[in-house]
Amino acid sequence: MSGIARVTACALWGLETELVTVEVDVSSGLPGFDVVGLPDSAVREARERVRAAIRNSGFEFPLRRITVNLAPAERRKEGTGFDLAIALAILRASGQLLVAVSELCVGELGLDGAVRPVRGVLPRAKRAVGAGIPGALVAGQNAAEAAAAGSEAIAVDTLRAAVAHLDGTVRLAPAARPPVPDAPAWEVDLGDIVGQETPKRALEIAAAGGHNLLLIGPPGTGKTLLAQALPSILPPLDEDEAMDASVVHSVAGLVDPGRPLLRARPFRAPHHTASRLSLVGGGTPPRPGEVSLAHTGALFLDELAQFSPQVLDTLREPLQEGRITISRAGTSATYPARFTLIAAMNPCPCGKLGDSATPCTCLPDAIDRYNGRISGPLLDRIDLRVHVPRVPYEALRDGRAHERSSDVRRRVLTARARMTARGCRANSELTPADLRRHCSLDGPAEALLGRAVQDRRLSARAYHRILRVARTIADLEVSDGVRRDHLASALLLRA
Ligand SMILES: Nc1ncnc2c1ncn2[C@@H]1O[C@H](COP(=O)(O)OP(=O)(O)O)[C@@H](O)[C@H]1O
Ligand SMILES: [Mg+2]
Repeated sequence: MSGIARVTACALWGLETELVTVEVDVSSGLPGFDVVGLPDSAVREARERVRAAIRNSGFEFPLRRITVNLAPAERRKEGTGFDLAIALAILRASGQLLVAVSELCVGELGLDGAVRPVRGVLPRAKRAVGAGIPGALVAGQNAAEAAAAGSEAIAVDTLRAAVAHLDGTVRLAPAARPPVPDAPAWEVDLGDIVGQETPKRALEIAAAGGHNLLLIGPPGTGKTLLAQALPSILPPLDEDEAMDASVVHSVAGLVDPGRPLLRARPFRAPHHTASRLSLVGGGTPPRPGEVSLAHTGALFLDELAQFSPQVLDTLREPLQEGRITISRAGTSATYPARFTLIAAMNPCPCGKLGDSATPCTCLPDAIDRYNGRISGPLLDRIDLRVHVPRVPYEALRDGRAHERSSDVRRRVLTARARMTARGCRANSELTPADLRRHCSLDGPAEALLGRAVQDRRLSARAYHRILRVARTIADLEVSDGVRRDHLASALLLRA
């Protein structure tokens, strides 16, 4: 038997998706197997996988002229996710599959006919559901992801199982839609950190308004601990943000099959030896990097001065634009990358500068070189820079109760609600026009800011950033106006 069959698959470029019709024509003529429609090398190699998978699943690979067209044909198709659709279309066109396939089919095939998971099933399934295709056939490990996208996802572990399900001989039940996950437990609670009232306050402001924060202090004073406490006071993800962040994780291949939707804002902490590629993303096919995995959450760069200045320089675009564009060989992919930056570093190479207990032994130009590793443009985008001093012995000894994260989080949530009511996600995203509208200063505040701009030669960017922080400080105090003391705190925290 010969004929044409069509099965729906979905292409992925960066986070962008497009439904692809896999058309297969099986006709008489010299036996052959061609894939057209701009396949990349992984898609061209599908021929070998599909041929072996069909044979090893007990079907017959037609000894005819087989043409596979991936339509629309004008854009390059990447990856191994088309295997399942191609195999099913061949089986249908050659009469070995009895019914037409109306589901989205996404999966890689092993030579033995196993269906393997691929990256990006969440956005692909979402795209199909949006286009009115409710069903999806995917690998078992991808089923929860597809279900989370609202798909009636059927987990097929083998090509045989897929055919049996479609023919109706062995019907499989759709995967359950994953439940809305509970709030996770936090690793570090603010209540367990002794002293450090100013850094804690800065952390609260950062969490409330989404402002970037740098912690500077000698080793062992709790900088890493403070940063790790940030997730415990961040506002929860709303549904859209949870989906956006989960899509990035899906495309990176980092979905937990048991819990496909992110339940808390991501907190990414790449090591200072991280490459540019792992930080901002890229590769073939391109994958999102740490800045995108941190989207909607926080990026923690511990030991900031140890990162290569070239790697740090790539943070400028995401910090400014909230996204990152990765170009390669004529195409480019844009990934979201809106995160709060939290960084920690020692004040100098020996770490003792400014520490009252022990004198610093660094030579002045060693200190300059050390600080020079953090570029001006990067520093300019860090709104809160606070010193984390050594905690006195008596404070460490006394077991007095400290404010818990849950109490701080309550204030953060109140402040966030005020921001949302003004129509913005977080104060860090206020535009200069928004600032004029929502950040009117009283006389004394105006005078203070005027003087600071002059004395500290602040850039226009710094000026706007200070106003945003002052707005957050006012919001934490449930104050409609921005007063002089709010502004003074904002200036002090940027010292
Ligand atoms: N302020 C603090 N309160 C409670 N424990 C602290 C504090 N500072 C440091 N510690 C203890 O010291 C350890 C090292 O702290 P860490 O956050 O790694 O310091 P840093 O990053 O500043 O070098 C922590 O795991 C914790 O046990
Ligand atoms: Mg540390």
